[in-house]
Amino acid sequence: MASQVYAGPYGTEPRHPGWPAKLGPLVVPAGTVRLRPVHLRDGREWSRIRVRDREYLERWEPTAAGSWSDRNGFGAWPPQWFSLRALARRGQCLPFAITVDGVFAGQITLGNVIRASLRSAWVGYWVSSELAGGGVATAAVALVTDHAFKAAGLHRLEATVRPENTPSLRVLGKAGYRQEGLFLRYLDVAGDWRDHIAFAVTAEEMGNGFAERLIAAGRARLPEPR
Ligand SMILES: CC(C)(COP(=O)(O)OP(=O)(O)OC[C@H]1O[C@@H](n2cnc3c(N)ncnc32)[C@H](O)[C@@H]1OP(=O)(O)O)[C@@H](O)C(=O)NCCC(=O)NCCS
Repeated sequence: MASQVYAGPYGTEPRHPGWPAKLGPLVVPAGTVRLRPVHLRDGREWSRIRVRDREYLERWEPTAAGSWSDRNGFGAWPPQWFSLRALARRGQCLPFAITVDGVFAGQITLGNVIRASLRSAWVGYWVSSELAGGGVATAAVALVTDHAFKAAGLHRLEATVRPENTPSLRVLGKAGYRQEGLFLRYLDVAGDWRDHIAFAVTAEEMGNGFAERLIAAGRARLPEPR
């Protein structure tokens, strides 16, 4: 699968393994999925989707101070973007925007990147409700997992999901993640300490790649050559 490390929009960004990068494309029922670094100009679409999708997103996201509209209004994006960019510059995070047919559609992030003898990160994601069930998150997880084990040089990825979050459990299952355990009262989500199921995958499980596996299962394809 195409995994292209590129200069990025800001020219002078310090380089870390696998960052910045553009990943994809993969074609799924919802459209053509690509991943690229989040941009400051994503703010308008980011805010439009997140304000509209409050009910769809809030019950799965960590509790935070302030109202949903304060945290997801247009003005909330620049500080979030600066903080993601700072973490990315320090090599602690790979914050991708998900685009579908070239339009911003969500985010997928490799966070808490630890190197040395651990070489691990967590993966987190959300996708616009307009595209729900269209295979976008599964394609994004497969692309980012391949990238983590190849260009980014990581060995293990972890994801934690509330047992009630059926779509997300399904995403990780389709993408090839393994269930490893249950974390009791793990994370403060939507105002309370919530149990989470722990999923993981390691580089040894990669085979021909997670995206290739989705293609072989008929869940995604490469675009037709032009
Ligand atoms: C979880 C989320 C990212 C999934 O995105 P998506 O692009 O719709 O995911 P996909 O289409 O790749 O896969 C979703 C799967 O769940 C299934 N699904 C969707 N809603 C479902 C429901 N209510 N019950 C059962 N299955 C459901 C879909 O049918 C699909 O499976 P299938 O391909 O076997 O039909 C999206 O729902 C979201 O952003 N949710 C809010 C934020 C969130 O939960 N993030 C993850 C936190 S761990």
